[in-house]
Amino acid sequence: MRIHVVDHPLVAHKLTTLRDRRTDSPTFRRLADELVTLLAYEATRDVRTEQVDIDTPVTTTTGVKLSHPRPLVVPILRAGLGMLDGMVRLLPTAEVGFLGMIRNEETLEASTYATRMPEDLSGRQVYVLDPMLATGGTLVAAIRELIARGADDVTAVVLLAAPEGVEVMERELAGAPVTVVTAAVDERLNESGYIVPGLGDAGDRMYGSA
Ligand code: URA
Repeated sequence: MRIHVVDHPLVAHKLTTLRDRRTDSPTFRRLADELVTLLAYEATRDVRTEQVDIDTPVTTTTGVKLSHPRPLVVPILRAGLGMLDGMVRLLPTAEVGFLGMIRNEETLEASTYATRMPEDLSGRQVYVLDPMLATGGTLVAAIRELIARGADDVTAVVLLAAPEGVEVMERELAGAPVTVVTAAVDERLNESGYIVPGLGDAGDRMYGSA
């Protein structure tokens, strides 16, 4: 497992506004979308391409296009949905799957309640979206499911991570073909499983249900 923290002033600026409790839901959704697009640029650095010949208005030349099999983007419901548009904007050929995961707020254990994606992911690059890498339970369970279906290259795009979650991922997915791309790794998790300083409950803030 590799982790890539995107160090860029625009990323830091958007993340700061997301953290601010005064940021309302419409602004939060827009900024999360913009932030995902910036993270997606880094997350897709190794996206597979194939060579193509094209005619420009002036001559014939060789370029690249996103190759087959198409990348798969998998938002984890519900908060990962708020990251989907920002991701597919940069990956227009991607297929989209869905994974519904729920965290038991007492045990903090993750379980799957809905799956909608191809059975066979062999040879596919998969981008899994979840705004908060907190305990790591949800992402580890999701990524195990993707690898069990044959995915050979998984990138998790998260807005924010806790060191505890990164450690769990490193331990549980040691040696797995997994990269985590995030805007920041925060200080810690609190006793309720929230990232500190964090940004609160990402789903509630996106969908105005706080
Ligand atoms: N999930 C969230 O939405 N926020 C946190 O801080 C931790 C998990």
